[in-house]
Amino acid sequence: MIPKIELHLHLEGAAPPAFIRGLASEKGVDLSSIFDGQGRYAYRDFNDFLRVYEAACTVLQTPEDFARLTRAVLAQSAEEGVIYTEAFLSPDFCGGRDLGAWRDYLAAMQEAASEVPEVEMRGVVTCIRHFGPDAAKEAARCAAETAGDFITGFGIAGDEMAGHPRDFTYSFDMAREAGLGLTAHAGEWGGPTSVRDALDHLRVSRIGHGVHAIRDAGLVERLARDGITLEVCPGSNIALGVYGQWRDHPIDALRAAGVPVTVSTDDPPFFHTTMRDEYAHLSDLFGWDDTMFAEINRTAARAAFCDEDTRAALL
Ligand code: ADE
Ligand code: ZN
Repeated sequence: MIPKIELHLHLEGAAPPAFIRGLASEKGVDLSSIFDGQGRYAYRDFNDFLRVYEAACTVLQTPEDFARLTRAVLAQSAEEGVIYTEAFLSPDFCGGRDLGAWRDYLAAMQEAASEVPEVEMRGVVTCIRHFGPDAAKEAARCAAETAGDFITGFGIAGDEMAGHPRDFTYSFDMAREAGLGLTAHAGEWGGPTSVRDALDHLRVSRIGHGVHAIRDAGLVERLARDGITLEVCPGSNIALGVYGQWRDHPIDALRAAGVPVTVSTDDPPFFHTTMRDEYAHLSDLFGWDDTMFAEINRTAARAAFCDEDTRAALL
């Protein structure tokens, strides 16, 4: 199996529905409304996806819940041939952004990650755009105070159309000063301007999704020239309707234009995908072969938020 590097995986978004249902029944919470008849997550569109996602998170309550989740998610990644993963971790769902609580959740997740040696994991603390700039500052503080060998990045997810990147400059500056790598979701729902704004105001080295950059040749040139890496999640884009069909997806055009592109799953059970499925589609649709996947993984290794020894081992 091809060894894979995944740079864009939301830890809570990777929770299998059965795992969330199990926690709900343990805790006596009725979450039946977020599942369909087959027991899969049920949502209508992106905003409804965010609602269902946040509802599922309500049963992830204790550090031990997050430890169990981490073990389950990494075991799944290992089965997919993933050797290195960057998981987006949200203090919002881990103790409500309280720094003391966050340290407890983090210790539990880090310990759990160490129990799955097949996958090297790093945490990217992720604030949530529609929770607003004040919440983002608290998340950034959690990130900055725990920056180190395990927490190596800071990012922003959530509703891209809420607020403006300039509202989050303070948080990204704090994270940068703590030595963290930076990434922002942009160009998933917003157009090229959204990507430019993330680059200009947040000064990130990576963009989550970024696929709508394809509509602006000048922006594509900038991404290629500056080596801004896109964390592309094609299956997520198809499931959420960003693109109607796989053959319309711009990942291969972005790559051909010299933009550093990587491949991730985002929230695999929500989008009914896995890393192997993503690779299989890319192979079928765009003829990507093992040489191409090796190049994609080298691109990911170069953009990874890790120390140089770890990077050297991945390259
Ligand atoms: N949070 C989890 N998945 C996301 C996505 N695809 N876009 C924005 N925020 C997210
Ligand atoms: Zn994402």
